[in-house]
Amino acid sequence: MVKKVLFPTDFSEHSKKCIGYLKKIADCGLEHLYLLHVADYRIIGETDMMFEEVLDDEQVIRNCQKRAEEKFKELIKEFDGNSIKIETIFKVGSPFSEIIRTADELDVDLIVLGFRGYNIAEELLLGSTAEKVVRKSKKPVLMIK
Ligand SMILES: Nc1ncnc2c1ncn2[C@@H]1O[C@H](COP(=O)(O)OP(=O)(O)OP(=O)(O)O)[C@@H](O)[C@H]1O
Ligand SMILES: [Mg+2]
Repeated sequence: MVKKVLFPTDFSEHSKKCIGYLKKIADCGLEHLYLLHVADYRIIGETDMMFEEVLDDEQVIRNCQKRAEEKFKELIKEFDGNSIKIETIFKVGSPFSEIIRTADELDVDLIVLGFRGYNIAEELLLGSTAEKVVRKSKKPVLMIK
């Protein structure tokens, strides 16, 4: 039985496609849903250079966390009326490593993620985060197209 699920999200439209499936899993005895967002340290560097030159890394990370918390709130609303426990987790680092580490630490039964994320390259078959999580995680992974 699937009791604990990790849903790593970059809040992209692709990752939102997971919500419908998560609701179905929630109706089948799910107890804990962990929502994880990883602020990609590579993007933090780029953002800093392009748009937020006056901000230091810590400020950029705080802004990312604030934005993530707002998006987490919207996501949690999707599960209104459900009795599952929902926890939100914000981390900074390499998304695939943090997803795998978090899944192990929480000992989840399943990871649910999108097959792509924010990358707009249409020819991309599979995002690199999704690909690495599937390849390297010891946990079962449900990838939503
Ligand atoms: N920073 C992140 N934090 C949490 N989950 C993420 C993050 N990035 C991606 N994911 C999860 O992985 C899924 C696949 O995203 P992925 O990053 O592999 O694709 P992409 O952004 O299109 O490609 P790439 O990152 O290789 O340019 C997303 O739908 C989401 O569920
Ligand atoms: Mg990505």
